[in-house]
Amino acid sequence: MNPNREKPVRTLNIGLIGTGDIAPAYIRGCAPFDVIDIVACADLLHDKAEAFAAAYGLNALSVDDLLARPDIDIIINATVPAAHAEVSLQIIKAGKHAYSEKPLAIDRAQADPLMRAAAAAELRLGCAPDAFLGGGNQTARRAVDAGDIGEPIAGTAFLLGRGPESWHPNPDIFYQRGGGPLLDMGPYFLTALVHLMGPVARVSASAAISFPERIAASEAGRGRALPVEVNTHVAGTLEFANGAIASLITSFDICGHHLPPLEIHGSHGSLALQKPNMFDGEVSILQAGTREWETLPFSHTTNIGRGAGVADMAYAIQSGRPHRASGALAYHVLDIMESLEESAAQRRHISIQSAVERPAPLPAGLADGELDC
Ligand SMILES: NC(=O)c1ccc[n+]([C@@H]2O[C@H](COP(=O)([O-])OP(=O)(O)OC[C@H]3O[C@@H](n4cnc5c(N)ncnc54)[C@H](O)[C@@H]3O)[C@@H](O)[C@H]2O)c1
Repeated sequence: MNPNREKPVRTLNIGLIGTGDIAPAYIRGCAPFDVIDIVACADLLHDKAEAFAAAYGLNALSVDDLLARPDIDIIINATVPAAHAEVSLQIIKAGKHAYSEKPLAIDRAQADPLMRAAAAAELRLGCAPDAFLGGGNQTARRAVDAGDIGEPIAGTAFLLGRGPESWHPNPDIFYQRGGGPLLDMGPYFLTALVHLMGPVARVSASAAISFPERIAASEAGRGRALPVEVNTHVAGTLEFANGAIASLITSFDICGHHLPPLEIHGSHGSLALQKPNMFDGEVSILQAGTREWETLPFSHTTNIGRGAGVADMAYAIQSGRPHRASGALAYHVLDIMESLEESAAQRRHISIQSAVERPAPLPAGLADGELDC
């Protein structure tokens, strides 16, 4: 049964700040949800916002005019990581709900005032990634909650590659403060782990800059040297509040590997997931006493994409329930990432000060384009 049928919902108007590489994915991903409608956009580079608005039938405004537009309820912040906290704070100060791309901020010092401002204004703060709302992660969550692998005791999460400068038109940000494999890709892996196993209590890590300079190879900047300010290989251990231990490696330094992206191991079995930045990755299970991995049928729709977290927040605003891709979840993930870097720099374990509850699982059987109220 569709849990929305008896609960009418209003369509909330959405603004988008930052019309770069990821912005079209929000247009595509938000389109199926009637609860949200992207109506206007802005960018520091106004020409870019105008071209984007023309391509997608939106109004192009200056950032200030978008913030001031009274009929906009939620603003998506798809700017570069170093600007996330400042732009999200501007959105909250303008009296609108904010949904940020990941990471929430580049460190806790930036994120703390943002969290306080959103709470004081009683406005929602949401944050990517929302891929844990996809059919793959929700199928794994159902299996964990049903006890199909017993008590989770361990996890592995591996993101290894040679860096995004081969394809990204603006690869500089990946090697500047706020970038690096941990802050860029870590949110997907850590959000998936926290969604499945709960909050992290303590971490340790080692980290390195293996190559002090990178060379852009995409058409836009071919041959340009990119100075490296951040660790490009981070190997960490996460101790969860429930006692489970996970191994995490994020690297932009590796030419090839055979490591699986994400696995959760329990007392009675193991789950293997696809890359957690995918919404539709298959999940397989091996249960104790068997030797064969079996693919689990999806328990939830895979017909869902980037922007589902915004739609979930739009429903939550109207019903008063917590939204799933929350600022609190993103803050905990940021806290874990900063603590991993601190552990590597200080060569000691770091206790995680923040805590968060696992976001509620999505109900099974939702119609495409709808979430629960
Ligand atoms: N590109 C991807 O495949 C991808 C995938 C997932 C998530 N993301 C995330 O999306 C965000 C944006 O990434 P991108 O790849 O689109 O970057 P991008 O550099 O292509 O686009 C960012 C845009 O933000 C604008 N901008 C920067 N600071 C601003 C400010 N203060 N006010 C208004 N506009 C500002 C820039 O002019 C630019 O147009 C990042 O947080 C990134 O981690 C990107």
